Amino acid sequence: MKKRTLLLSITVAGIAVAAAFGWMTIRRGFSARDNPSAMEAYVARTARTLSIPASEREAKNPFAATSEVLSEARAHFADHCATCHGNDGSGKTEIGQNLYPKVPDMRQSETQNLADGQIYFIIHNGIRSEEEDEQRFLNEGKAPETKRKIHR
Ligand code: HEC
Repeated sequence: MKKRTLLLSITVAGIAVAAAFGWMTIRRGFSARDNPSAMEAYVARTARTLSIPASEREAKNPFAATSEVLSEARAHFADHCATCHGNDGSGKTEIGQNLYPKVPDMRQSETQNLADGQIYFIIHNGIRSEEEDEQRFLNEGKAPETKRKIHR
């Protein structure tokens, strides 16, 4: 196959996939009560992963998991995060279950397998187009401690 034909086929296939994704999304509707489709969740998660610079991802938590740090982290989490995430991180709260997307169960591997730096980045910068902007809830410097609670 000629290079030009190959490129054209790839472009046409790409447009077809994007159109199918767009059509399916529109047909599903935009109810915030729904769960995101598997495709939407995958795209959002991949975009979020790609948006975190490698240097940030590899950053280490400067706080040791001492009982003092953990107890401060628990108190901070209870005050600022548990309304949505639940004190146990399950996300089974009235607010958490009525957001779009619903808050994830942070005890599961999807959250637990995030690197320290990724969790810090998410807490510090928020996730675009959601309620998630912990920056507002956090005093500078508190995020690593809070993360300690999520990510032991
Ligand atoms: C107003 C509700 C709300 C509050 C308060 C809140 N969160 Fe969230 N959080 C969310 C939602 C919704 C998501 C899911 C976002 C997504 O998946 O796109 C989320 C996602 C996260 C994630 C990513 C988990 C994952 O596996 O992707 C982390 C980490 C997190 N929150 C930490 C915190 C911390 C720490 C606090 C307190 C400082 C906090 N959140 C306060 C609603 C909230």
